[in-house]
Amino acid sequence: MNTYVTDFPSRRGRRLRSNPWIRNLVAENHVTINDLIWPVFVREGTNTTEPVPELPGINRYSIDTLVEQVIKVSDLGIRCIAVFPCTPSNLKNETCEEAWNSGNLVNKTTQAIKRKIPEMGVMLDVALDPYNSLGHDGLVRNGQVLNDETLEALRKQALVQADSGADILGPSDMMDGRVKVIREALEKNSYQNTLILSYSAKFASSFYGPFRSAIGSSGNLVGDKKTYQLDYRNSEEALRDVAADIKEGADMVMVKPGMPYLDLCRQIKEKFKIPTFAYQVSGEYAMIASGIEKGFFDKNQVIIESISCFKRAGCDGVLTYFAPELAKILNST
Ligand code: PBG
Repeated sequence: MNTYVTDFPSRRGRRLRSNPWIRNLVAENHVTINDLIWPVFVREGTNTTEPVPELPGINRYSIDTLVEQVIKVSDLGIRCIAVFPCTPSNLKNETCEEAWNSGNLVNKTTQAIKRKIPEMGVMLDVALDPYNSLGHDGLVRNGQVLNDETLEALRKQALVQADSGADILGPSDMMDGRVKVIREALEKNSYQNTLILSYSAKFASSFYGPFRSAIGSSGNLVGDKKTYQLDYRNSEEALRDVAADIKEGADMVMVKPGMPYLDLCRQIKEKFKIPTFAYQVSGEYAMIASGIEKGFFDKNQVIIESISCFKRAGCDGVLTYFAPELAKILNST
């Protein structure tokens, strides 16, 4: 390749690394606070902050304390959050009606945030698992996760979420045709500006374990999610799902989990030229946070490295539980 015409010692790679200023001058990628979406967990009650044991430093907040936290991260410069509910078990059943209750936890949270901090972007998941007593993202009959019946439930869920003021809907259920159904419903109901960030390349992964505990669904899940989430051995299959979601009306797409799937981030960005996000999921957070706790890693260094790698892989932004910590680091450098 003619970029590398010179030879040692004319070429010394270390010249470009010899000082912070020259390293910064030639740096190819930069993480900024604008690249971050902070996922948060909301629970019932008031004045409550409940630690999630599997996720050091992460809490489930009641709506009032969550609003206080969101004001704090807004002051740090964070501009978008993703809200996940820890639904009380008496509101979960096999028909999942709580998902399209306009007064459910995530919808009330969205309204509360929009009242206090209207400039904060709010993203909500479209999927049934937080409301399903069987723990699945879709409706289940005779042990099968039903596709087309689930679409109707997702349509109703998406509409109440848009109505509550959510800016971004994140279909995370992996049913076929969900983006089409949601986009059509939004268009018909005057939500032309509601964004869809589809969990398009969402793999059936062990790395979601701590999240399922955080939303209180791990005890519910019967079986696994392999009939709808992607097989981690495949990338062509993931690219086909991304193509379908874009065709059906997704504005942005996501790869999930993040770090073990950076190859997909790069391939999607290059192939589709569309805003591409990665979700550094709960299991990835748990591994890094435990390493920090044990003293294996320097906290600031490992956080910024882990997020910079997503930018290098082609991502426009990242969903990360480290968002507030990272914002503090970026503000102080
Ligand atoms: C639910 C959903 C999951 C996550 C986000 N939305 C879990 C799952 O599919 O079982 C995982 C996020 C994380 O692990 O941090 N559809």
